[in-house]
Amino acid sequence: MSDKKKIILTGDRPTGKLHIGHYAGSLKQRVNLQNSGKFDEIFIMIADAQALTDNADRPERIRDSIMEVALDYLSIGIDPAKSVIFIQSHIAELTELSFYYMNLVTLSRLERNPTVKSEIQLRNFATSIPVGFLTYPVSQAADITAFHATTVPVGEDQAPMLEQTREIVHKFNSVYGSVLTEPEILLPDNKACLRLPGTDGKAKMSKSLGNCIYLSDPDEVVKQKVMSMFTDPGHIRVQDPGRLEGNTVFIYLDAFSREEHFASYLPEYANLDELKEHYTRGGLGDVKVKKFLYQVMQEELEPVRSRRAAFERNIGDVYDILRAGSETARKTAAATLNEVKHAMRIDYFDDPSFLSEQKEKYK
Ligand code: TRP
Repeated sequence: MSDKKKIILTGDRPTGKLHIGHYAGSLKQRVNLQNSGKFDEIFIMIADAQALTDNADRPERIRDSIMEVALDYLSIGIDPAKSVIFIQSHIAELTELSFYYMNLVTLSRLERNPTVKSEIQLRNFATSIPVGFLTYPVSQAADITAFHATTVPVGEDQAPMLEQTREIVHKFNSVYGSVLTEPEILLPDNKACLRLPGTDGKAKMSKSLGNCIYLSDPDEVVKQKVMSMFTDPGHIRVQDPGRLEGNTVFIYLDAFSREEHFASYLPEYANLDELKEHYTRGGLGDVKVKKFLYQVMQEELEPVRSRRAAFERNIGDVYDILRAGSETARKTAAATLNEVKHAMRIDYFDDPSFLSEQKEKYK
């Protein structure tokens, strides 16, 4: 059994290109985990079937984002030699698992899921919630357990999905026998990375608000977005004391800057604490801090851009990576589905005792 192995499964809905909120919140950590060599298997899923649960009438939006997300993954350093990148809808076994898991979850339990609740509000579903949307946490449990994942690196909004998955695992194992693996959520250690605000200071980065920095943004666009970022509206003259709370530029520096960046670009400060101290005391202008943040972002994003450009020139290779990854993932999910059906004793044609029992009964 795969019990002792350390296995990662994670993924993203392809509803557009990924931004640095996704990057800080989870993508960057995945690359570190991948390169740590501590995991036996890593699966990274483009969750198109989940994306369709609230985009049923816009399948072209999902279709258009498949390659964007694949390019985002490859450009940040997800390495197809170490991680299996695959497309959810290609794995029919996931749907079958979901169907059996649905019997282990109550409607009221699904209605309590805080992330689903806020998504319902955000989408104005009110009383017209698609059933598929309400049940996506169950399908997410199928995604995770199909790979016997032990570790699920995601942003903190996904915590309720992990809780739901663990409940399904407990229920399944207690009813049918110990087959499924209990997963753990893995959040980034840097708290500033958990929820990066938009460049306008609004709590969440979102495409509709136009306040995102995308992984695929060109250099000049990143520069312009950083230079017009929300800071402290009360910090008008350089000599005024500035506030750090809610100050987007400093929140981004908390998430991305390291001491080496100071040595390279701002040697008059040893570290971020010194820079913050000067800002709150007064005498430090926003433009200087923004220029520094731009340099930090540039160092982070330039290698991403050049890897992306190389993959864009060979898009056929990306297609092959997705196809091969999906085939590999399908084999793993099929093996788990067999274990599940065996535990549920519904594997009639693979279970010789079925026929012998019937023969005995009808003798
Ligand atoms: N819900 C995740 C998102 O919104 C995507 C996802 C689907 C996922 N299945 C998953 C994440 C399984 C981790 C594990 O981006």
